[in-house]
Amino acid sequence: MGPASPSGRQPYPVRLRHGSAGMRELTFVDVAAAGDVPAGSMVHVKAAGRDVLLANVGGTFHAVSDRCSHESALLSGGRLDGAIVTCPAHGSRFDVIAGRNLSGPVMADLPGLEQLSPRARAMAREKAAEMATARVADLPAYRVRVENGRVLVEI
Ligand code: FES
Repeated sequence: MGPASPSGRQPYPVRLRHGSAGMRELTFVDVAAAGDVPAGSMVHVKAAGRDVLLANVGGTFHAVSDRCSHESALLSGGRLDGAIVTCPAHGSRFDVIAGRNLSGPVMADLPGLEQLSPRARAMAREKAAEMATARVADLPAYRVRVENGRVLVEI
């Protein structure tokens, strides 16, 4: 059995997942009180040492990796619109239900760009063009359940 959850309750084994280190046990880990994440909001939680974004979309909880697959920014610091999270760093968008990447990084809309020197703006445009070709992977998505007012994430 795995380590105790932050609440002190024991997570319970459910199934195995194949990883680079072979098969490992998956468990549901207690990550938050359901009442602490109202509909339309998201929070960063830790589960089994991983950064997880927990979102409440219309009363249903969803969990995906909280690390953007572009350059690892914490997505929970971004914006949640319905089921879509926008990365605060460069604007990649993901759906928080399946973790699918919907669009890649952009830089053109970053505030303050017009205040840069011409040389810095040119460098920013160059970086934006480079980023526009970046391949951004889908995020790992985790199963979620709610029990006794607590949100559990399978990880
Ligand atoms: S780190 Fe998220 S889009 Fe760049």
